[in-house]
Amino acid sequence: MSTNRVSARSWGTIDLNTCPNIRVTPPGPQSRQWHQRCAHYFKGLSSQVKLFPVAFERGEGCMLVDVDGNRYIDFSSGIYVTTLGHCHPKISEAVARHARQLMNAHDFTTPVKTMLMEKLAAVMPGDFGGFQLYDSGTAAVEAGLRVLRAATGHNEMLSCFHDFHGKTYGAVSLAQIRSPVYGRVRMPGAHMVPRPDAYRPLWTKSDGTIDTDRYIEFYDQYLEKGTVGDVAGFVLEPIQGWGGSVMPPDDFFPKLRQYCDQRHILLMADEVLTGWGRTGKWLCMEHWNVVPDVVSIGKGFGNGFPVTCVAVREPYKESFEKISASSSYGGNPMACAAALASTEVIEEENLLERALHLGQIAQKRMERMKAEHRIVGDVRSKGCLMGIELVKDRAAKTPFDKAGELVYQKAFRKGLAWIPAGHILRMSPPIVMDDDALLKGMDLIDEAIGETEKELGYSW
Ligand SMILES: Cc1ncc(COP(=O)(O)O)c(C=O)c1O
Repeated sequence: MSTNRVSARSWGTIDLNTCPNIRVTPPGPQSRQWHQRCAHYFKGLSSQVKLFPVAFERGEGCMLVDVDGNRYIDFSSGIYVTTLGHCHPKISEAVARHARQLMNAHDFTTPVKTMLMEKLAAVMPGDFGGFQLYDSGTAAVEAGLRVLRAATGHNEMLSCFHDFHGKTYGAVSLAQIRSPVYGRVRMPGAHMVPRPDAYRPLWTKSDGTIDTDRYIEFYDQYLEKGTVGDVAGFVLEPIQGWGGSVMPPDDFFPKLRQYCDQRHILLMADEVLTGWGRTGKWLCMEHWNVVPDVVSIGKGFGNGFPVTCVAVREPYKESFEKISASSSYGGNPMACAAALASTEVIEEENLLERALHLGQIAQKRMERMKAEHRIVGDVRSKGCLMGIELVKDRAAKTPFDKAGELVYQKAFRKGLAWIPAGHILRMSPPIVMDDDALLKGMDLIDEAIGETEKELGYSW
């Protein structure tokens, strides 16, 4: 592979002389004013917005500009969405063309949808041969659950602690629902089990390494004793995004695939966050050579245009016939154009390799941070899905939420637009980013961690 094949395309290049550029300490006066007006009505804001109420005006590639004219390096891609940078000309043009031509035709065939279907079948691993399109990740997950039931004739679902799958009833039932927001009532037949977390393992072997087999044994016991023997599917995120870029050990998914086959349970990977280039593969599961039976894809799929997908392997695709699969917006021409153009851009610009390359340089840079900062407990990445876990005490791995909050705000003030969560600094830069911009963003985080350690009295 020649070096220039993974070099940044102009769309991902940031002129570091002009970005980041903080003209007025953010959130500046214009941001505050817009935010006050908007937030008067727009309720239920995320913690990130509450902690840093900046108002954005435009995005261009890997740069964001706020209403005060401050320029930021984008380290979040919206929320794992604009994987190919903001307003990529090919994608914007494709959407605009279809916005002028035909906006909705229910689920009648259109040429652009046909071309998208053919493209999906061609690029995806394994024998994915049936697709449906939706307008949110949670809708795709719900459709995936219906497919699992229709394909197996069974009803119960297994999912994992700390997974996140969306905010409708079925999706919420596959996650922790103690929050009143989620109604506190799980759908019948939804079960949760622990999954191996490479940094915080529940079960380890005598040599201290993670004991993946123990998890699989537990699933078997749970199947016998915790369910009514009517399990349709095991639904889980390949890497937990909302949970904080939490990585599984490499043997987990191959073993889980084998287990599901032995027990006649279908495996559904929720790749809404991890799919379509984010980790350097079309599907994150490809890192472990595992093909799930059903997969949900969203976020970066249309690079900002709301379009999501459920893909089903050939043997199960007729199940779509039983679930009343269509929806008002699913597969509309603008959505199909966005997803098709995004897929073509990834291919044409060789961006899967680029995401892997960026992940490698980010990992090295983060390991340096871990060596230099006491509060950095763990650093991890798969392509452009990255995380730094902040702890009060490395041995006890005590989460350091206050530090997370401070690092978030300090780095933002320096010109890094991002969305960490609590004590875990989550990063998801566009995969088109150039190396220097990525390293500049990492420098800003490094500085912010150093200042936070000093402020909280945690320097070595
Ligand atoms: C893994 C996963 N599944 C589903 C969803 C829900 O997607 P949406 O917010 O588009 O409904 C999300 C959103 O963050 C997600 O991360």
